[in-house]
Amino acid sequence: MEGDGIMKLETNVEGSFYVTIACIDCDQCRQLAPETFSEVSGYSAVIKQPIHPTEKAKAFQALLACPTGAIHSEDKEGLREAMQDFPLLINDGVYYCGFTSHRSYGASSYLIVHPDGNWLVDAPRWHPHLVENIEKLGGINYIFLTHQDDVADAARYASHFQAERFIHEKELSAQPDAEHIMKGTEPISWHPDFRLIMAPGHTPGHMLLLYRQQFLFTGDHLAWDRDQEDLTAYRDHCWYSWTEQTRSMQRLAEETFSWILPGHGDRIHLPPLQMKEAMNRLVRRMQKQ
Ligand SMILES: [Fe+2]
Repeated sequence: MEGDGIMKLETNVEGSFYVTIACIDCDQCRQLAPETFSEVSGYSAVIKQPIHPTEKAKAFQALLACPTGAIHSEDKEGLREAMQDFPLLINDGVYYCGFTSHRSYGASSYLIVHPDGNWLVDAPRWHPHLVENIEKLGGINYIFLTHQDDVADAARYASHFQAERFIHEKELSAQPDAEHIMKGTEPISWHPDFRLIMAPGHTPGHMLLLYRQQFLFTGDHLAWDRDQEDLTAYRDHCWYSWTEQTRSMQRLAEETFSWILPGHGDRIHLPPLQMKEAMNRLVRRMQKQ
């Protein structure tokens, strides 16, 4: 793109891939291609040019997942193939969508392929390649919106796939025409495989989705911190009530799960017992904060 050279961050190493000043430090590229991207002075930067094909494929995935188009590559060989990679399989019919939106500050969204209908958890930005690949996986029947910040292009996906959206009434302003409006703070077992868990704190009507007592989609309530190597909740980004968020976390510690799939922050897979211990540690830390 013309003029990109001057927008290039000086923290990039020389070479084909680079990050521009459009970076919002959302961390997506560092999660997808940690060999290539790292945090330098509050932004992402290319710390090592990808050499091996697998590294390059991951760097292109990061370029495509970036919410602000801040990652560029002069060499385009492999870009088209990377578009076909999304949604990326995580485990057992659960996919990461990529193509994050700047409107949700680069939050991750996920697809669950299920025999009784597929679920989208939060929404990516609208992208024809992604839409086509989701169609091949059977489309979308339900869209679960964790909270008001991460709806991105949910309305367009809902309209295209004739999908029904779930949102809490306290977040309704972000998706006023949602089909299913949840209320209160009690969890709801919507289907034997899908449990909707209310977790006010980050926002007043934040919800989590628990799939098969294994995969917990946590929005901005809970994530893994790779530096601390432990679970974390973001007090600095708690927009509603830390006291409420701590109470929600305490209730959540009673549930069984082994995967945490957040909007922001790292994903993690731990054995259920280890996860429970980590949850109890987090609750204790939160109560002291
Ligand atoms: Fe949020």
